[in-house]
Amino acid sequence: MDPKELKKAAAQEALQLVESGMRLGVGTGSTADEFTKLLGAKVQAGFEVQAVTTSIKTEKLCIEVGVKTFTLDELPELDLTIDGADELDQDLQLIKGGGGALLREKIVAQASKEMVVIADASKVVDPLGAFPLPIEVVPFGLKATELEIAKISKELGLSGPVVIRKNEDGSDFVTDGGHFILDASFGRISDAKQLNEQLNLIPGVVETGLFIDIATKAVIAAPDGVKIMTK
Ligand code: 5RP
Repeated sequence: MDPKELKKAAAQEALQLVESGMRLGVGTGSTADEFTKLLGAKVQAGFEVQAVTTSIKTEKLCIEVGVKTFTLDELPELDLTIDGADELDQDLQLIKGGGGALLREKIVAQASKEMVVIADASKVVDPLGAFPLPIEVVPFGLKATELEIAKISKELGLSGPVVIRKNEDGSDFVTDGGHFILDASFGRISDAKQLNEQLNLIPGVVETGLFIDIATKAVIAAPDGVKIMTK
């Protein structure tokens, strides 16, 4: 089955969870884009929702499809966030940030009563870590931050290349918040909670792509149908 169709199927199912008048966090990435487009079509038909987006890219798409956007300062408490993920495990712990929006995604998800992940079944893994873990860092003192990350990961028994994310033209990838991203290929992350806590103690680390105990539900699309995962 076409991966795009699976993303659309998950997005369509998640749309049923959105109630009229909700304050909604809207995610970033190709799966979240499918959701945003479907939401736009529903809004065009008269459905009302107030959206807070997780990236400038998603904000542009919302405007394009007619979904009204607000800042998180205007709506600091949200009912629901719908977003994609790069990986999720059976406990609904996630790796996010493949699209570089992890910081805003985590802030928006944390501000929401519920976070629902939409993904195709290939994203469900055990354990997390085949997908390189995005770590958002400040540009100042990058080398020192890299050394700290290497030290902590070694202490936790993790190893693998940690590389700065680049754009296609070879320039450094810069997030919406003006930070860099390091992608850490650890392979297997046996204790994601501990790794997240330890990495977040490094002063140069802004946030990690590990979403621990944030997602409340996942809508997973496979060729044989859509399944719901809960905690
Ligand atoms: C962006 C993200 C995305 O949700 C994640 O990368 C999944 O994207 P896609 O739906 O395109 O596979 O975390 O920062």
